[in-house]
Amino acid sequence: MLRFGGDYNPEQWPEEVWAEDMRLMAEAGVNMATIAVFSWSRLEPAEGAHDFGWLDRVMDLLHAHGIDADLATATATPPPWLVRRHPEMMPVNADGVRLEFGSRQGYCPSSPVYRAHAVRLARTIALRYREHPALKMWHIGNEYADHTLECFCDVSAAHFRAWLEHRYTTVDGLNAAWGTSCWGQHYTGFDQVEPPRTAPGPVNPSQLLDWRRFCSDALLELFEAEKAALREVTPGLPVTTNFMSILHGLDYWKWSAAEDLVTDDAYPDPADPSSHVAIALSYDLMRSLKRQPWLLLESAPSAVSWRAVNAPKPPGMMLLHSLQALAHGSDGVMFFQWRQARYGPEKFHSALLPHGGTDTRTWRETLQLGQALTALAEVAGSYEQAEVALVLDWDSWWGLEAPESMPSDRLKLKELLLDWYAPLHARGIGVDLVPPGRDLTGYRLVIAPNLYLCTQETATWLSTAPGQVVVGPFSGVVDPADQVHQGGAPGPLRELLGVTVEEFWPLHDEVRQETGLGAARTWTEWLRLHDAEPVALYQGGELDGRPAVTRRGRATYVGCRLDDTTPLLLDLLVRAGVEPMELPQGVEAVRRAGYLFLLNHTAIPQRLALTSSGTDLLTRTPMHGHAELPPRGAVVLRVEGNQ
Ligand code: GAL
Repeated sequence: MLRFGGDYNPEQWPEEVWAEDMRLMAEAGVNMATIAVFSWSRLEPAEGAHDFGWLDRVMDLLHAHGIDADLATATATPPPWLVRRHPEMMPVNADGVRLEFGSRQGYCPSSPVYRAHAVRLARTIALRYREHPALKMWHIGNEYADHTLECFCDVSAAHFRAWLEHRYTTVDGLNAAWGTSCWGQHYTGFDQVEPPRTAPGPVNPSQLLDWRRFCSDALLELFEAEKAALREVTPGLPVTTNFMSILHGLDYWKWSAAEDLVTDDAYPDPADPSSHVAIALSYDLMRSLKRQPWLLLESAPSAVSWRAVNAPKPPGMMLLHSLQALAHGSDGVMFFQWRQARYGPEKFHSALLPHGGTDTRTWRETLQLGQALTALAEVAGSYEQAEVALVLDWDSWWGLEAPESMPSDRLKLKELLLDWYAPLHARGIGVDLVPPGRDLTGYRLVIAPNLYLCTQETATWLSTAPGQVVVGPFSGVVDPADQVHQGGAPGPLRELLGVTVEEFWPLHDEVRQETGLGAARTWTEWLRLHDAEPVALYQGGELDGRPAVTRRGRATYVGCRLDDTTPLLLDLLVRAGVEPMELPQGVEAVRRAGYLFLLNHTAIPQRLALTSSGTDLLTRTPMHGHAELPPRGAVVLRVEGNQ
């Protein structure tokens, strides 16, 4: 079964409305609702005094209409009574300002008060609904790190110190790792160490890197604490928390290991004609996290309400974007939210059932989507590994994007990933994301767009790739403490790549440096080859005649940021034996096991040749030879021989 539904906030409506909600959910084919995400103050209006009556009735109604509950632990916004009694649980920013109640996620991740109350509430909810037949999944918190990623209060400082003591054992271990001999920061006790609050100048980057690790871990501890309470009461029920696509703040490899099902919230900007590419990358990450189908838990039926200008989705885009999530491995499509709010900061955010009611374009598209999901039910559960892998490592990302101490602040990991992902995506080539250390069997091409932080183990692992390997610029620069590998970059990757970087040579935004494989921008390097062949040489400028791209056996090093990686990539695909597809611009082709999704992201009709024949599941018509795609239209082919 494919999941269809969304966030349902019945507590924002009089109960008379609920009957209509149920009738319309049933009409649309909704089969799952996410409930009670922000309901703490309604479920526990005073400490220990619970009001579950309304939620009991909602759970019963959902079940009576065949709708399953993704039931939240309601801990995403602690209630005012708790905050007033314990103002110290509100987060403090880097400037020392304590934030106020009045929005959501108002908690310090390290607050023992918040944690104890959150765990208690999670357990209470679990005990109440453990036997309820509507309960199918637990939803802990909500979008961790959305508003509150970090807190700089004294409680957080103590938590950080404990985390550091666990990591380094002695303060001299910390001094050595953080290089505190620089700028006179030598500590003589852990009690002198603070979080990286706003300081007179740049903060120690090794300290910042540990802070990023700590902040991700501190929130994960919260998730784990609630999960432990749920597990005790309902050991067999899946537990999730909704991710936020590719998020800098949380190490999703670590987080997903703690989840039963990966779920994601995705809000591509309908006004950006290329937003479907970046979102495809994040969907591929979601599928790769546990190497299994995942679930799109939130998306927008039309406009969001949190951009400066919130463009609606034009007709057909809700279905198209939903099919895109399925293509990349989601086992359903859920939305924020079911009924459009009449008050609050999200009253202009679109919903499946808009302010205008059922005689609206959005509602008609909601019905159409429900029908499409029914037609596509057989796709659920299917999964296959891709032929190409992109390496993504949060430690390295955090190190790369440390403020104020790099040769250039222009290298952004998401952009570097997209430099490679976009041309692969444009050719219908499936891509998995992999963390260092994952089994690379079956990958014909492994690309590490950047591994600024790289250990010897990671370098050894990369050299086990069975096919072609590509490493992007500014890789192998530092160790896990952000200390520079001696002998020059790419440090532990020197053996694999056969090159040494003598000097980083970043470029100003407007500068282009010709390479013979197209222009480089943002970044170039002065390379010395000791056991590699030049593949492309710089032409003109200070680096004239020096190697820009090199190869040693199966390993290619790209010492610059290429404006367009396509020419190099096409050669690598041939070497790797990966077959690109020919697709019109803006048409996406995605294989999901025995299914081929063809998605027209343009506003004009498209026609393309088909190499496989089969049945279009949306129209139940056989197709061979070619496919006609209407504007923003799609075909989901069950490929012959895979029925
Ligand atoms: C998400 C959040 C939802 C809602 C939505 C609006 O970030 O989880 O509660 O705010 O955005 O787009």
